[in-house]
Amino acid sequence: MNLPRISVFGLGYVGSVTAAALAERGLSVIGCDVSVHKVDLINAGKAPIGEPGLDELLQDQRSAGRVRATVDVEEAVRDSEISIVCVGTPSAPSGALDLQYVEAVSRQLSEAIRGKGTPHAVVYRSTMLPGSTRRMAENCFHGMENPPSIFFFPEFLRQGSALADFRQPSLSVIGVLEPGQATEVVSVMVDPTTETVSVESAELLKYSCNAFHATKVAFANEIGRIGKQLGIDSTEVMGALCRDTRLNISSYYLKPGTPFGGSCLPKDVQALVHYSRRLGVTVPLLDSLMESNRGHLETLLGQVEAAGKKQVVLLGLAFKAGTDDLRGSAMLELAANLLLRGYEVRIYDPEVSSSNLVGANLAFASLKLPNFESLIVEELSEAFPEGVAKTIVASKICADEAEISRFLGKGQPHHVIDVNGWRALATIASSYEGVCW
Ligand SMILES: NC(=O)c1ccc[n+]([C@@H]2O[C@H](COP(=O)([O-])OP(=O)(O)OC[C@H]3O[C@@H](n4cnc5c(N)ncnc54)[C@H](O)[C@@H]3O)[C@@H](O)[C@H]2O)c1
Repeated sequence: MNLPRISVFGLGYVGSVTAAALAERGLSVIGCDVSVHKVDLINAGKAPIGEPGLDELLQDQRSAGRVRATVDVEEAVRDSEISIVCVGTPSAPSGALDLQYVEAVSRQLSEAIRGKGTPHAVVYRSTMLPGSTRRMAENCFHGMENPPSIFFFPEFLRQGSALADFRQPSLSVIGVLEPGQATEVVSVMVDPTTETVSVESAELLKYSCNAFHATKVAFANEIGRIGKQLGIDSTEVMGALCRDTRLNISSYYLKPGTPFGGSCLPKDVQALVHYSRRLGVTVPLLDSLMESNRGHLETLLGQVEAAGKKQVVLLGLAFKAGTDDLRGSAMLELAANLLLRGYEVRIYDPEVSSSNLVGANLAFASLKLPNFESLIVEELSEAFPEGVAKTIVASKICADEAEISRFLGKGQPHHVIDVNGWRALATIASSYEGVCW
């Protein structure tokens, strides 16, 4: 089988590593950059950037005749079947993303591919905001006789261990413009385990990963500042935190959906922020958590309002499944807010019965919703009188599919807002949306 030849546009940190590492896999690679200096360095078998092992690898691949570089876009496209875009996407002074280099290279690629007339693929690896790849496809490649296949393939390498990361990526996900778009054409450059998603998901994924990393660093540093102020070795604290791989370093608590709640998270976040203020330690990340949570509840309220029905049924009231604890429950908060805004609310939660609630739990519920007992229905049927269109906010799986279908199935006038990933409702209900999907 003839392996496709590769052109790499942009020979900076990502591009030069990509060029060398793909040549190492036996592929023929031509790099292209506007910088004559970088092109000359590659052609001399030298790395244009400082990265451990790259000089040696480029030297070897250059000697083996598998890698070279040019400033000529046409030559690079003519001598390749796949073009990988690794040009910079810096920040404008406002913080906005500056796509001028990606746009310029896309226009040049379009011209060169048009002139070439044989099948070609363009793979964007430059980090771009959701919608950018599709816009490039529409603005630069639309209407061509033989348009290239276009992909967004986010790069997750870290400088300092870039070659090792390229050879064994921590994550490999490729974005396609249309469902079912074949990825075989670029299989030589992607890991067999690569997951295929939409270009927009792949674009957002890259930003989510970096925002997550930044959040982790800022969090560790805020705990560090509190620890320092108290004479506590925060590396010991964070070391122990990281040893919990069930709740802390895990996918737990990383599912978009319900605002956080319960008897501990809101209380303890607020206490830690208050304490930090007293210590004179600034913790803006921790300080933003309650506001962010409140904003999420406001989003949910906005979705209920947009649904345009004055009657609302909440499926699930406790702060999470498997408990009757209402303290800090986001659904209780939602109910209180909806009542204040003039909605009629009914609540169904088989784990919560007004007759069983006691102590702090009952006190909290009564404080938030003084008429709370009158809103609870013991049977689903009580919440769904014939012919009345309602908005259903589902925060936990609290009935089996056959039973819920009787009330929410096709032909019923209700609109479902799914807060916690009860995905079966998407096929059961005639009108469905997720709070974050
Ligand atoms: N640096 C990283 O660790 C890293 C990791 C993952 C993703 N990324 C993303 O990859 C992209 C590239 O990052 P980088 O750090 O390699 O950037 P860089 O600034 O080191 O390199 C970009 C290169 O593109 C060249 N270039 C600009 N316009 C060009 C054109 N029209 N034709 C050919 N070459 C052109 C520049 O001369 C430069 O050599 C960015 O979007 C970045 O966010 C970077």
